[in-house]
Amino acid sequence: LAKARAMQRALADLPDHSGGPSACRRCDIWRHATQAVPGEGSTSATIMLVGEQPGDEEDLRGRPFVGPAGRVLDAALTTAGLERGELYITNAVKHFKWQPRGKRRLHQRPTTTEVAACNHWLDAEVSQVKPRIIVALGASALRALAGLTDSIESARRLQIPHASGAQIVCTYHPSAILRADPANAGQLRSRLVDDLRRARELAA
Ligand code: URA
Repeated sequence: LAKARAMQRALADLPDHSGGPSACRRCDIWRHATQAVPGEGSTSATIMLVGEQPGDEEDLRGRPFVGPAGRVLDAALTTAGLERGELYITNAVKHFKWQPRGKRRLHQRPTTTEVAACNHWLDAEVSQVKPRIIVALGASALRALAGLTDSIESARRLQIPHASGAQIVCTYHPSAILRADPANAGQLRSRLVDDLRRARELAA
């Protein structure tokens, strides 16, 4: 992690000649992605949601959380009393990392170095939006936002400060619900909803 942080600092010192994440070459994920997927939503949002990286559909459509995980997230937001349009939704990594599996493009988890390289863009979004609460959806977001590698179940019980002064609320990634066996999916879904509700209360 120290190496990744040092790398992040080194990358942050590079002059930024790019036109934004779509022209970003700080790591190699862009080579196989269709396009960068920037965050979207209200720039005066008090709550920012951070996922891991765009999935297959997000890569094709250029918008975060519009595929299967996005549908799980949308349903959880509604149950928690939050409106997607009032939030800012983004990802720790802005390009889709995948490997071919037959005709499918299979999601690959970004490395610590790739997450660190992309922190530049996440930091810029946090500086612009200045959210009070940042919801880390899953382990990659938690690592990007706080450098923590705790399990989600323990991190969701912690009060985690973000360098910007925002408070981090950690919860399960919606994809974890899609991947869970049916006996556990309901419990994960209600924890996601509980944590989103807590985020709403803390931001109020
Ligand atoms: N998973 C994520 O982490 N982000 C998305 O935008 C879609 C799926």
